[in-house]
Amino acid sequence: MAFGKLFSKLTGKKEKEATPVTDSTSDDWNRADKKEPVAAADLDGPPSIRFDNLGIDVPVEAGTTILDAAVAGGLDLNHYCGGMASCGSCMVTVVSGKVSDMDDMEEATLDVVMEDDRDRLGCQTRILGPVVVIVPPQD
Ligand code: FES
Repeated sequence: MAFGKLFSKLTGKKEKEATPVTDSTSDDWNRADKKEPVAAADLDGPPSIRFDNLGIDVPVEAGTTILDAAVAGGLDLNHYCGGMASCGSCMVTVVSGKVSDMDDMEEATLDVVMEDDRDRLGCQTRILGPVVVIVPPQD
């Protein structure tokens, strides 16, 4: 599905009114939720992430998104929409570990691009313990 059609589906706005969001630091859409502090009770062990098929381990703070961890680890994980949960290019497969729940925006995007029920958007998924992911081939 083209970005404009997905935007229209998610927002209810006509496609011609859609303006692509390109600012990766914007608090628009649901991105602000990803900056909320994580309560200790929500953690399942010390947070870290292993990009298993690439052999890259990255120490992270609780609540870091998988995309932010990838960037911190020098991994060029695709993120065409700038982390706004609208393109699906940052998708990874979560093999193990505790991560944040999926919200409506992420679910709507994954409905279009998901191939496996463990697939998550790296830009929306927060790390809540030792997490292992697999990264699909990148462009
Ligand atoms: S960067 Fe576009 S959905 Fe994550």
